Amino acid sequence: MILFVNACVREDSRTQRLADAVLFGKQSVTELCLEDLKFPAVNEEFLIERDRLIAAGKFDAPTFDLARQFAAADEIVIAAPYWDLSFPAALKQYFEQINVIGITFRYTEDGRPMGLCRAKTLTYVTTAGGTFVPEEYGFGYVKALAEYFYGIPDVRIVKATGFDIAGADVEAILREAETAARTMDFKEAVRWFADKWIGKFTDPDVSYLELVDHFMADDCRALGFEMDCAQAFSEKYEVAFHDLEALRDVIQEITDIPLLGSAVYSKWRYFNHWSYSAAEILQPENREWFTVVLEQMKKLACI
Ligand SMILES: Cc1cc2nc3c(=O)[nH]c(=O)nc-3n(C[C@H](O)[C@H](O)[C@H](O)COP(=O)(O)O)c2cc1C
Repeated sequence: MILFVNACVREDSRTQRLADAVLFGKQSVTELCLEDLKFPAVNEEFLIERDRLIAAGKFDAPTFDLARQFAAADEIVIAAPYWDLSFPAALKQYFEQINVIGITFRYTEDGRPMGLCRAKTLTYVTTAGGTFVPEEYGFGYVKALAEYFYGIPDVRIVKATGFDIAGADVEAILREAETAARTMDFKEAVRWFADKWIGKFTDPDVSYLELVDHFMADDCRALGFEMDCAQAFSEKYEVAFHDLEALRDVIQEITDIPLLGSAVYSKWRYFNHWSYSAAEILQPENREWFTVVLEQMKKLACI
């Protein structure tokens, strides 16, 4: 299980969007939205009760739910905007809840923390308004916790900065960061993408809305495919963009995954925007067109 600790607060959060790129194609992600949690006040009463439970070895108490969830995760992704040289207070509250001796770490006899967490990787995703973004109070702090307390050896940062500078091209900054964020093996992501959409295009009960709504475009963008109205594809393979039989004739010679991705994205755009009726995407020859291209992408991604 991948635990996604989401400390973003804004509806159009750039940090969340960058985190989506990091998580793209990952299976079994559990999202923990910190805004939805009500953290108890960590006052003396709370600490006394917590120490009592730890001393009694009652680690299954509900108060330790978050700590147990964190310790059991196979991988951690944390998304937090850069606030006041650091991150939102809710994330600090979260750490106060999960730092539990006996669950996420323990102390050695000479007083050093030793990690008890399962995860080997923690990815910290952040975005900042400016470019003065020292890491020591935000990422640096999380990295120290991860390495020294939780025992997570591989701690990475994925960040984008300069969003709030006058005249900043927010979309361009985000796109560049999203591309860099795709740390996952590209071919693995392509296999996942192809499998997912082959499944949908071959599903007799699929609704045309599922195929023409923004979902496929989101996936294409996350993989870096370009919607160029099939220009690059048509220059090389002419009518294959419109004609299934022509596509079948050339598909085996196409070995460029981004070019196939761009053709898929452009074809999606045709039905999403240009076609007389978007529901035409369900016609057998159209489903087949997508399936043939996606099968070839999958084949190339398996080499
Ligand atoms: C409370 C608050 C504090 C902020 N502090 C900083 C800061 O110290 N340095 C900086 O460069 N930007 C700062 N910003 C700007 C945000 O980092 C920037 O807008 C970021 O992209 C917001 O992420 P989001 O879109 O995920 O909410 C701050 C924003 C807020 C709301």
